[in-house]
Amino acid sequence: MPSIYVHPLPVRIWHWINAFGFVAMIATGVQIRYVGLIDLMSFKTAVVLHNWIGFVLIGNFFIWFLFYLFSDKIKVYHPELSPAKHFRASFRQLKYYGYGIFKGEPNPHHISVYQKFNAMQSMTYQVIMLLLVPLQFYTGVLLWDVKRFSGMIDALGGVRAVDTAHVLIFIFFVGFIFIHPYLASLGHTRTAHFKAMLTGYEEVEDEAGHGPLR
Ligand code: HEM
Repeated sequence: MPSIYVHPLPVRIWHWINAFGFVAMIATGVQIRYVGLIDLMSFKTAVVLHNWIGFVLIGNFFIWFLFYLFSDKIKVYHPELSPAKHFRASFRQLKYYGYGIFKGEPNPHHISVYQKFNAMQSMTYQVIMLLLVPLQFYTGVLLWDVKRFSGMIDALGGVRAVDTAHVLIFIFFVGFIFIHPYLASLGHTRTAHFKAMLTGYEEVEDEAGHGPLR
């Protein structure tokens, strides 16, 4: 079965550090937020871990960002400029995930080196990586040292406003950490996309259209 190289090494390194880091940030974040209700670790340990892992993730983000910035692989993130085309493709993909897949229909998206994402993925990943992740890092750094950043915090409406933004994005990521691996398990086998994110290679259908279509 032919396979194509879709996830270069820097993306894979970034991704798995990021994935484990986010799980740890959620666990320590929940402990910080619900101190007294949940007893995963001491409050102090949770704060120290949350801060350290947070800075590791900020540094790690630049592996992803700089790799795509200086590589022609950035094309995988190029948006479809026609909104009508984009929404038609997203709707087709949504219909597949919500209905077609249960009827054994083929995946409407066919992976290639410069189009490894379907319309839903390319939009979601862009919003996450270029908006939500940087915003979460930014609000996190402000909350890490509220005294040092008091000027910026006040300009944004105070600690409460910054904290609310941080917690709302946190809630989004709690949902994402369940939905994203579920969608990633919908390859032609349950583990196909996970293996691809480990090895870099994704199996694709051959020219005659045989091979993994789900
Ligand atoms: C339990 C945690 C996670 C698992 C098991 C997981 C799994 C995967 C898999 C299998 C892929 C490749 C298939 C695909 O393209 O969708 C992928 C891609 C991706 N994931 Fe995750 N993921 C996890 C956490 C995260 C988190 C926390 C984020 C962001 C905050 C994230 C962002 C991404 C992005 C942006 C891609 C596309 C990367 C690229 O090729 O540029 N993932 N993930």
